[in-house]
Amino acid sequence: MMPGMTNEAPRVSLTGVKPTGAPHLGNYVGAIKPALELAGRYEARYFIADHHALTSVRDPEKVRHYTRSVAATWLAAGLDPQSVLFYKQSDVPETFELAWILSCVTGKGLMNRAHAYKAARDKNIEAGRQEIDAGINMGLYNYPILMAVDILIMGTTVVPVGQDQVQHVEYAADIAGSFNHLYGDSYRFTIPTAVTPEEENAKLLPGLDGRKMSKSYDNTIPLFCSEKELRKRVRKIITDSRGVEEAKDPESAALYLIYEQFATPAKAEELRKRLVAGEMGWGEAKDLLFEELNGQLGHLRARYDALMEPESELDGLLLAGAARARPIAQHTLRQVRRAVGIE
Ligand code: TRP
Repeated sequence: MMPGMTNEAPRVSLTGVKPTGAPHLGNYVGAIKPALELAGRYEARYFIADHHALTSVRDPEKVRHYTRSVAATWLAAGLDPQSVLFYKQSDVPETFELAWILSCVTGKGLMNRAHAYKAARDKNIEAGRQEIDAGINMGLYNYPILMAVDILIMGTTVVPVGQDQVQHVEYAADIAGSFNHLYGDSYRFTIPTAVTPEEENAKLLPGLDGRKMSKSYDNTIPLFCSEKELRKRVRKIITDSRGVEEAKDPESAALYLIYEQFATPAKAEELRKRLVAGEMGWGEAKDLLFEELNGQLGHLRARYDALMEPESELDGLLLAGAARARPIAQHTLRQVRRAVGIE
């Protein structure tokens, strides 16, 4: 059955974005666009996971800046705050009470096996450190529980996320299962599932060096930078050394693969043909890509810049979203409290 095509209560699509850096083209193609498409088929609830950023971002100015920046990005990219419930995690404090309650039904062993925690521990082991938990804070350790709460408190059915977040959604399902097993006679959480862009037919966007575009590889093209910066980044895309008249292989060139995601199929086909036929050098192809990106992102950038102004409607929009999100969270929490015997 197609997702979202049931006769039951409207199905909820929810995702959170951690405000830890400037959004890049890879986020746009791999996360933002697919989530906005899903929003049409589900009751969509998208939020900024600002508390999750605290596990790694220590500069309060950065937390504030990236929180607004990520919110402005989604709005500029086309999120309609009338139809999508759009809010900040920190404006829904019920989240943190439920996090405690759910941590009481979550096995510590489950947390020990979480990818992010295991990776941090393995790094310590590799570095030969005596203390294998050195530098690992409890926020990182508890991260999957907080994320489970984000998902469960809003009655979520599907969670559009990248491949790297699938385990977290499975944890949310596990934790919901534990709760339902213990308290299911009085309250049951909906069991969520992950939807990855791969399943939704989107392609992974390569970065400047051809690997997946990712902040951790430092190979990104920011979504909203100045024209000058955009041109500079596009120039940095690594290409092979084939000359203008040599036949090129578009499918193995990051440049073409990025172009393909943005240009119309007809334009992409035109570029592909000319590269294959040895009718275009990489320099000219880079100019084409720059023009395409700049043309499309230009008006989004203007909207983004306006939203980033200190007195813009951005903060009010987020608060209005929270005012609609909180009653849903309160409703869930009230039933959970009753189920566990706190009320
Ligand atoms: N962990 C997610 C990330 O790093 C962000 C996130 C927090 C999230 N809570 C969520 C994603 C709930 C989906 C659902 O990108």
